[in-house]
Amino acid sequence: MAATLIRNAIILTMNSNSEILAGDVLIEGNRIVKIGPGLADESESVIDAGGKALLPGFVQTHIHLCQTLFRGRADDLELIDWLRRRIWPLEAVHSADSVYYSALLGIGELIRSGTTTILDMETVHHTESAFEAIKAGGLRAVSGKVMMDHGTEVPKPLQEKTEESLQMSVDLLEKWNGAAGGRIQYAFCPRFVVSCTEELLVGVRDLSAQYGVRVHTHASENRDEIAIVEAERGMRNVVYLDHIGLARPNLILAHSIWLDEEEKRIIRERGVKVTHCPGSNMKLASGMAEIPDLLARGIPVGIGADGAPCNNNLDMYQEMRLTAFMQKVQHGPTAMDARTVLRMATMGGAEVLGMEKEIGSVEVGKLADLQLLDLEDFHVYPSYDTDLYSRVVYAATRGDVDTVLIDGEVVMSGKRVLTIDREQ
Ligand code: GUN
Ligand code: FE
Repeated sequence: MAATLIRNAIILTMNSNSEILAGDVLIEGNRIVKIGPGLADESESVIDAGGKALLPGFVQTHIHLCQTLFRGRADDLELIDWLRRRIWPLEAVHSADSVYYSALLGIGELIRSGTTTILDMETVHHTESAFEAIKAGGLRAVSGKVMMDHGTEVPKPLQEKTEESLQMSVDLLEKWNGAAGGRIQYAFCPRFVVSCTEELLVGVRDLSAQYGVRVHTHASENRDEIAIVEAERGMRNVVYLDHIGLARPNLILAHSIWLDEEEKRIIRERGVKVTHCPGSNMKLASGMAEIPDLLARGIPVGIGADGAPCNNNLDMYQEMRLTAFMQKVQHGPTAMDARTVLRMATMGGAEVLGMEKEIGSVEVGKLADLQLLDLEDFHVYPSYDTDLYSRVVYAATRGDVDTVLIDGEVVMSGKRVLTIDREQ
């Protein structure tokens, strides 16, 4: 079995005791098998991590790879107008090739900035191309085709028949769930209640239970969205999802900004998971999610950049800072400490995906999804007795990421993404 030794790292383990260790990590196959100082140097591959921090790869729990190519347009719009006037017309003209290159571009940026796992949502068509790009890029990804069989002002090419949407999803699931040696998993992705009939959502409920896969959707992101759901279904968003039996531990809600007390109770009691998207929430002027409150209730919360046009970036280092800044501005300087933010970006994301036994921390037995961060670029002496969490969250940038491993495979080295370069 191939072995890799990472030597002399400062290890931010993100384990349950938040240990920071100085030492070596031995990887055999795709798993971490030993952590400690002075491990024997018998591996065929040795990575010298002197002056570097070793962190778990980031787990981003809300991405739209198919939107990477749509970035950088003048788009001072709120969610519903932005979807109708910018995003849906562009998704409607996506081709198999443009989805592939949009996804590949996004994957390169994600790996470059230390992200090793994503929860992703594609568009109505050409999801196959996104899976091909994910496979080529070597990212760990839970992804699926967007489902939308309802709603006004949806361009014709994106309008689906309920049965076709369900059938296309099942066909993709049967082909891609567990692909790439298990790095790829399928999730049903009803876009949001606004674009889905009840029949579709009930179908997703039953099929996701039958196949044991996750459901990834947007909920309570924007006040107009909530008003549409209330007008059409007579209930608030999360209450409606619970009413039709979708509020279960396999449900992951992106945004969750405008939750009332009953919705928070439902999320907690049903084991639903939440993704925070701070850059997107600010750029689309959606609002401020009450993240400390959700965490205090024991709700798992991850972080995701959302699609690139939502914030012009897929960089978790930026998203972490925004997560802290938003809470501090609102609730004061102690509202969100750096360790909590880094935990959300790693173990929090793993919990949202139900993969906390496999990824999210540097621990023996876990998959070797890791990043090495060059501390010397911080222009501060790289001692691990200073507040490394604060330095990583507030001072690090994606330019400091030096090496990234997924399943023990080096996918980025010397600041080059090897899998993507190989592809092009
Ligand atoms: N709600 C429904 N679709 C989308 C989308 O593509 N992006 C965001 N941010 N919110 C959505
Ligand atoms: Fe989104």
